[in-house]
Amino acid sequence: MKLVIASDHGGVNLKKAITEHLSEQGIEYTDLGPDSTASVDYPDYAKPVAEKVAAGEYDKGILICGTGIGMSITANKTKGIRCALVHDTFSAKATRQHNDSNILAMGERVIGQGLALEIVDTWLNTEFEGGRHERRICKIEE
Ligand code: RB5
Repeated sequence: MKLVIASDHGGVNLKKAITEHLSEQGIEYTDLGPDSTASVDYPDYAKPVAEKVAAGEYDKGILICGTGIGMSITANKTKGIRCALVHDTFSAKATRQHNDSNILAMGERVIGQGLALEIVDTWLNTEFEGGRHERRICKIEE
């Protein structure tokens, strides 16, 4: 699996925790930045991640900002992207099973690191169920 991740300044600390967690599990990723808490604009980071996932350069993406909201709004402007803003493990599982979400967004100012890492694990390890959900995803694309 090829994974791409980015944040803004409001999400950089949680992003670091996630990338460390991925490395511990031997999961490779590309981090498109930023590296510091200096103020940046979240669309400048969400759009490249969305475009790379939509183009098939990466299988999945993870976007972190203060709330996850700006990142998810931006990512979902790119055709082919199904970005899910998730702050609980039930939704992390359901959005993979039902929506085949290809980008996960979370807010560093909303949840703690422990829960965020569980959400990442759940989201990465849950398969799309297909079937009736495939038809619904096609309607989104149309
Ligand atoms: C940055 O202050 C903040 O607005 C951003 O991280 C995010 O929460 C936007 O949706």
